[in-house]
Order: sequence, then C-alpha cells, then structure tokens
Amino acid sequence: MNTTILEKEDIQELLIKHSQPHLLEVWASLSEDSKDLLSDQIAALDFKLISELGELGKMMGSDDTASSILPPDTVTLDEVERKSDRVLSAISRGTIELAAGRVGMLLVAGGQATRLGCDGPKGDFPVGPVSGWSLFEIHARRILALNKRYGIRTPWYVMTSQANDQQTKNIFEANDNFGLPSEDVVFFTQKMLPALDLAGNVLLKDKSSLFLAPNGHGGSLEAFVSSGCLDDAKSRGVTTLSYFQVDNPLVRPADPLFIGLHCEAGAQMSSKVVQKSSADEKVGVLGLVNGKMGCIEYSDMSTELLNAVNDQGSLKFSAGNIAVHAISIDFIREITDGELRLPWHVAKKQISCLSPNGDQALVDGMKFETFVFDALGLANESITLEVDRAAEFAPVKNREGNDSPDTARAQLCALHGRWAIEAGLTLPAPEEGGVVAIEIDPLLAEDAESFRACLPRTPLETDDGQLYY
Ligand code: UD1
Repeated sequence: MNTTILEKEDIQELLIKHSQPHLLEVWASLSEDSKDLLSDQIAALDFKLISELGELGKMMGSDDTASSILPPDTVTLDEVERKSDRVLSAISRGTIELAAGRVGMLLVAGGQATRLGCDGPKGDFPVGPVSGWSLFEIHARRILALNKRYGIRTPWYVMTSQANDQQTKNIFEANDNFGLPSEDVVFFTQKMLPALDLAGNVLLKDKSSLFLAPNGHGGSLEAFVSSGCLDDAKSRGVTTLSYFQVDNPLVRPADPLFIGLHCEAGAQMSSKVVQKSSADEKVGVLGLVNGKMGCIEYSDMSTELLNAVNDQGSLKFSAGNIAVHAISIDFIREITDGELRLPWHVAKKQISCLSPNGDQALVDGMKFETFVFDALGLANESITLEVDRAAEFAPVKNREGNDSPDTARAQLCALHGRWAIEAGLTLPAPEEGGVVAIEIDPLLAEDAESFRACLPRTPLETDDGQLYY
C-alpha cells in the first residue's frame, strides 16, 4: 500500500504525541519504501494500550507469585472409573450433544513453537510413530471419526497468528484439509502486539517492521467473535466449543463424558486436568485463585506452593492444566460484549531486534499475552474433570528430553499397545529403547473399548494353532 505524504506526516505526529521518539529517529533514516511498510504497522498500533502495557511491565517483577490458591473441586478419575450415576448420565448427555452436531472444535495454533524450534507451524510436526502423521492430521482424523460416527459435519475453527497463518493454510490445502470438507475448516487469526523494551519503547524487528508477537491464546475469544466465527458456529447450531492446543496428539476433543458434565452442570467454561507427575512438572495448576476459578502457571508459584502437601501427604496443588476446555458459545458472546478484559501476563526476556544504535542485538524486553484460562474466573459454573495422563496428555513442547516428539511417540505406542493387549492381541517384540511400534488410527478407535469393538468377534487360527484377528 502506498502511504501518502499527508499520512506520513500524521505518522510523525502520532509518534511525537505518544512518546515513541526512537521510532521517529529510525523513521528519519528510512527509504520511502521502508516508510511505507512501517507506517502501516504504526498506524495500526493501539497507543493507549501500549502505554498501559509499558506501565504494567515496569511495575511487574518476573518473580511475581500467586497469593491465595485452593485446590478445585474435581470429578476424579476414581469416580469416572466407578461409573457413578453422574458419570453415566453425563456420558449419555454428551453423546446426545455430539451426535446432534452441537459441539464445534476450536484449535489454538497461533504460537511460535520457539522451544520446539521447528521452522513452520507446530501442527505440521510429524508425531505419528508408525504413520508419520502430523499433529494437524491426527487432530483432523479425530474430527473425521466424530463425523463418521454420527453422520454429522463438525466445524473446526483453527486459530493462527499473522506469523503462521499463510503457512498453516498452505499445509491444509496441500493435504486436502486432511479429508475434511473445506467449508468445515474455518481459519481465523488472533491479534499481534508489539514487544516493548523495559522503558516501554516499541521494539523494531528490522528497519521497516515492528517486533510484533501474538497476543496469547486468550486472544482466541475476542478473535473468535470479531472474525465472524461465533456467528458461523451459531448458524450451524453449535452451542459448545471443544477447545484444545495443537501440541497434544492424545487430546480427545469429542469426549462425551467431558461435554456431558459441562452441559449437565449448565457450566460456561470447564477444564480437564491430570495429576501432576511431580512438584516441578512445568504445567499450570487449576484452582480457586483468590476465590475464583483459575490457573496458576508453574513459574508464578513459590517453591513452597509447588511443594505443599495435603493431609494424605500427596501434592496439594496437583490439578495439572492440560489446556482442554469446553466453552459455551453464549458465554463467549456474553464476555466479549463490550471490551473483554483478561489480565495481561508479562514475559520479560531477551528479544533479538534492532538496537537503538541500528544493529541487530539482544535487548531486554517484554512481551504481553492474555491466557484463555483466565476466563474461567468469569464463569458462574465450571467443571474440572480429572483424566488419565497416559491416555490424554502427551504434549510436544521441546525438541528433546521431556515433552518432546520422542516422549509423545513412545506414549502413543504404549497406550495403543495397551489397547491391543486388552483386546487379546499379541504385540511384536519391542524395538531398541523398549518401545513397541504400534499406532491405532483415530478413525478406527478412540479408546480401548471402541478398539475391542471394532475387531472381529472370533479370532482366526493359523495352521500351528495361534490365534489372530
Ligand atoms: C500451556 C499452559 C499450561 C499448561 C500447558 C499444557 C499457558 C500460559 N500455559 O503451557 O498451563 O499446563 O500448556 O500443555 O498457556 N498459542 C496461541 N497463540 C498464542 C500463544 C499460544 O495460539 O499467542 C497456542 C500455541 O500454539 C499452543 C498453546 O497455545 O497450542 C500453548 O501455548 P504454549 O506457549 O506452548 O503454552 P505452554 O507454556 O506450553
């Protein structure tokens, strides 16, 4: 876009008015083309918000810790396994909601996958231990399975950010939307925010662009509405969204129990948790934070809180957040009607950007995000359901070590191996590292029970009397 001279003067005025003098200095040294590029970005800035964020960042230490937290009231794994009346009734309610097509899928995939260090969108990362399927494909196959099971068409809302939107769309297109009808895969983008230095100055990525970062997954709620997705969902008869992150290949976005518990309780926003594996596991914990439902990040908990134990001697704050939520459409409409004010989280870190002397350098800076789980505090009713970590949580975060593609693949193999053994099959010998390479297509089965059900009833017999299916 060509910026007119008048507009460029406006930009200079804007910068003076909002005390971003360093941008003015850069501005003066830019070529006309670079001015065009930069002025579009400057014109789109919300200077009032930037000034608020700058002040907030100055006040906040990176070691702020939470003050008061109590464990949440949880539907425990034990109750689920006992199949209490509440659980059975929830399963049938959830089945009705899913079968009627009243549940839409919301995937947040706007993050930058910095820790995994992959070039493109994280969802393209191959994690299927046998199939080599990407995270996107595994999620898509679960949605396909849901559609097939009930003869429905589930909309899948995929949130990207400017940083990976085009690449994500290209991947879906190149893979024919992984078999889903293109009208049912709806992309929308979250907003970006400028990173600031510690004095509140907007940072530059290079001479002609600002350093912009996605505004956190809390941005999904507002963007879901402003992009028209909420109206789209309503027009399709969707009343509940199943929210999940791109990084967990074991997520069960169409879990009748969870959806049913949420709906039966008339809840607005609900969450799944797993028991934390240890005090220092790097997950957030769900709890009542200053009297309201919420989640405290690992990094915001004092050592004392992290290690606190209950009367039984186990971890007091153990409801590990796996970032799976059921969110009612009406709740999203209600909280975004007017300005949605989720708290800002400030990450102080070194940012590679254009330094004041014009060189590329690491500068102490701040990035700002809102988190979707902070909306839990706005819900009147919220269910917390504990699920089996081995069956539902295998996050891919780091390149190696904990929570890496290798640990996720090994966990998939272990789970599917268990389903196979429970169904009476014999597993081949393990490979090096003790892993049996086995993977069950989500299109075939979603748990041990459905896997058993899809096998022929009577095993066949080989000449030497071995049984096989
Ligand atoms: C997150 C949770 C943590 C939880 C853990 C479970 C936060 C702050 N913490 O941690 O409580 O225990 O997952 O795996 O989220 N994303 C966007 N846009 C953004 C930022 C992130 O779409 O602006 C998406 C990412 O693509 C990803 C998800 O949100 O799918 C999680 O982001 P990430 O930064 O990886 O969260 P974690 O720190 O791992």
